[in-house]
Amino acid sequence: MTGRIIGLGSYLPPRLLTNDDLSKMVETSDEWITERTGIKQRHIADGIEDKASTMACKAALAAVEDAGIDPSEIDLIVAASTTPDLVFPSIACCVQRAVGADGCACFDVNSACPGWVAAYNTVQGFIESGNSKCALVVGAEMLSNYVDWEDRGTCILFGDGAGVAVLKAVEDHPSNRFIMKASAKRGDCLHCETMKQPKRMDEEGFIKSTNMFMAGREVFKFAVTEVPALIIELSEKYGFDLNDVDYFVLHQANQRIIEAVSKRLDQPLEKFPMNIQNTGNTSSASIPILLKEMKDDGRLTPGKKIVFTSFGGGLTWGANYIEY
Ligand SMILES: CC(C)(COP(=O)(O)OP(=O)(O)OC[C@H]1O[C@@H](n2cnc3c(N)ncnc32)[C@H](O)[C@@H]1OP(=O)(O)O)[C@@H](O)C(=O)NCCC(=O)NCCS
Repeated sequence: MTGRIIGLGSYLPPRLLTNDDLSKMVETSDEWITERTGIKQRHIADGIEDKASTMACKAALAAVEDAGIDPSEIDLIVAASTTPDLVFPSIACCVQRAVGADGCACFDVNSACPGWVAAYNTVQGFIESGNSKCALVVGAEMLSNYVDWEDRGTCILFGDGAGVAVLKAVEDHPSNRFIMKASAKRGDCLHCETMKQPKRMDEEGFIKSTNMFMAGREVFKFAVTEVPALIIELSEKYGFDLNDVDYFVLHQANQRIIEAVSKRLDQPLEKFPMNIQNTGNTSSASIPILLKEMKDDGRLTPGKKIVFTSFGGGLTWGANYIEY
C-alpha cells in the first residue's frame, strides 16, 4: 500500500502586507524586493484568530471536505511547524479536535521549511507498514511572530499560512520515492531561537524580535547547489527522466532560486509553478498551499508526475517523486 493524495486544503490569513507597506517600516522598496525575490505581498496572521494551530485547523477542515471523507476514517495526523503557538498539545492534536477524528495518532515534526516533506514521508512510512489507512499531512506556520521586523534582510521574505494533504492508502500506486538530507555543520547560516516571551504583531506596530538569523547569500548558494543535485540524485535513484516530470513544485523561498534550479536542470520554467509573489516564504506550508492552488486552477490532475522539494534551516533538504 502507498499513500495517495486524495484531498488538499489551504488557508491564508486575510491581512496583506505589501512591499510598499514594508518600505514604510524598513529601508527597502517594492523594486528591490521584487527584483531580488519575486515577492509582492505576504499574508500576516493576527495572532488571535489566526495562529499556526488555528490556521492548520482551517486548512485541515478544507482538505477533509475536498477529499470527501468522513473524519472518522482518519487514523493519523502529522503536522509540521517551526512556529507553533503552543509547546503542547501538538498542532496535530489541535487539528484532530477541529476535524473530529478523536482517537487517531497525532504528533508534530520539525524540520524547518522541509517539515512538510518530512511529515509526508513519515506518514508514507506508517501507510506502507500497514499502520495507517487515511492520514492528514499538515504544514502550518506563523513566521511573522519570529522575524525581526527591523531587519530588512529577512523580514521581507516570510509570510503566514497553512496547507494540508489527505493521504489514503491505495494499491497499484507507485511506492513512496524520496530522499531526505541534513548537514548540521553548515546550519549556522540560518537559525531561529524560541521566543522567551510571546510576541505578537498588531495593527499598531511591529514588535522587534531578534530571534532569527540568516546569512542570505550563503542560504541562497546552498539552495541553488543542493536542490538541483538532489533532484538529479532522486531521478537516478528511482530511474525516471526529468523530461517526463510535469511539474517541479519547489519550496517557495525566492523566485531567483527557482529560476536557477530550472536553469541547472535544463527544464523549462513553465514546469516550476510559483505563488511566491502572493504568499512570500511560508516555510513548511508552502508546498501544500501551492499544490492546492494548482488543483483549484486545473493544473494538478490525476496521473500528473510531480517532483516536490524543499530546503531550509538545519540545514535540511528533501525531495519526492510522486504521481498525483
Ligand atoms: C535575502 C536575499 C533576498 C538578499 O539578496 P542578496 O542579493 O543576496 O543581497 P545581499 O544580502 O547581498 O545584500 C545586497 C545589498 O542590499 C541590501 N539589502 C538587504 N536587504 C535589503 C532590502 N530589503 N531592501 C534594500 N536593500 C537591502 C544589503 O544591505 C546590501 O547592501 P550593501 O551592498 O550596501 O551592503 C537573498 O540572499 C536570498 O533570498 N537568500 C536566500 C534566503 C532564503 O531563501 N531563506 C529561506 C530559506 S528557507
